[in-house]
Amino acid sequence: PPVLCVVGARPNFMKMAPILEAFARAEPAIPATLVHTGQHYDVAMNEQHFAALGLPKPDISLEVGSGSHAKQTAAVMEHFEPVLDEVQPAAVLVVGDVNSTLACTLVASKKGVPVIHVEAGLRSYDRTMPEEINRVLTDQIADLLFTTEAKAEDNLAREGVPAERVRFVGNVMIDSVHRNREKAVSAAQTLAALDVDPAKPWGLVTLHRPSNVDDAAVLANIVGTLNEAAERLPLVFPVHPRTRARMSHVAAPRTTYGSAGTAAPVGAVSDRESARSALQEPPEGTAPGAVSRSEAAPTGATNLHLLDPVDYLTMLGLLQSATLVITDSGGLQEETTALGIPCLTVRENTERPITIEQGTNTLVGTDRATILAAVDNILTTGGKQGRIPEYWDGQTAERIATELNRWLGRSG
Ligand code: UD1
Repeated sequence: PPVLCVVGARPNFMKMAPILEAFARAEPAIPATLVHTGQHYDVAMNEQHFAALGLPKPDISLEVGSGSHAKQTAAVMEHFEPVLDEVQPAAVLVVGDVNSTLACTLVASKKGVPVIHVEAGLRSYDRTMPEEINRVLTDQIADLLFTTEAKAEDNLAREGVPAERVRFVGNVMIDSVHRNREKAVSAAQTLAALDVDPAKPWGLVTLHRPSNVDDAAVLANIVGTLNEAAERLPLVFPVHPRTRARMSHVAAPRTTYGSAGTAAPVGAVSDRESARSALQEPPEGTAPGAVSRSEAAPTGATNLHLLDPVDYLTMLGLLQSATLVITDSGGLQEETTALGIPCLTVRENTERPITIEQGTNTLVGTDRATILAAVDNILTTGGKQGRIPEYWDGQTAERIATELNRWLGRSG
């Protein structure tokens, strides 16, 4: 019987692609069936990445779409159960910490199907993060847990997860970085469409955490800070649909936004004027004084460039040559560490502490002065020098396949 492999949201795809490749190459090969829950469904969040990563078309699509956490999780569970009954897999393999990860874990576990969790044990110790709940619960009931960093094993031990279930294999997301570096779309090409000079410093921005974008005042403050940072260096900002939705009430709808099919990055550039106004106007309900228009965007700063979400190869190209990255993404904290690019993380905590201890990551929170000082520091000193964490070597998927064959009693 196959291993039923689950993806649902964008950050799952770059983790699953190398795993499926390694399964096919393993001795003996591990049969896999790929299920896509459809948590992410926009072309820009979804199909573009499948194509860019060489992921096979999913064998099964559940098409659950968006909803409240309860609705989305419940929909995945309901649609996943009959699939499990039909496929009768040897195990279910889930990655990361999205709602689809937990939903499929719950269903499999209650049906007595072993669950394998890739990227286990990460903890922010912040239970207001939906992902933290997903991580804690998934790890409690998973049968085999693959970790990316040593701290994860400590976290799991503290929660009573038996050590026999845990394997330290490294970071499979970095496998994708290694495999695709050569294929990446050159940053020069993407920047040319934005009139950004690739020979001068420029920065890459992403933002989508509910804690940063769902509250109008918090978002306005971050946006104001980005506008100020953009006076120092051009910033390129592919906007996640969640963030776009929170910004939409301050700007006229952008026809190019989310219309997708944008194979060429040029086509993905949103209308500049409306993008600019979206970032200059504080959202309604902004706390007085949080961002004034003049503070946020003095003298027509056009240096903050909004794009639709970009595909993986475009993102990787941007990442490799950015002067700095400002983000609240988990994956980008890791990818910047792997690539040696200074990263400023707009959060108070991280579940990926190795990116701080060994990598190029710095937590800057949402305080304007702190963020701007960190940007200045990178521009003057070049920023934090890191080293590559253990097993972030591009071979993690191979280690997973080997361990899994052993665990399934198929070898060793
Ligand atoms: C999810 C993950 C998060 C991950 C992120 C990466 C959870 C709890 N969160 O957050 O860990 O970092 O993906 O992108 O699983 N939307 C679209 N098109 C899509 C998908 C979403 O327009 O294809 C919009 C919808 O308005 C939706 C909102 O984005 O309601 C949020 O989507 P959802 O999947 O619930 O969570 P993300 O914020 O994407």
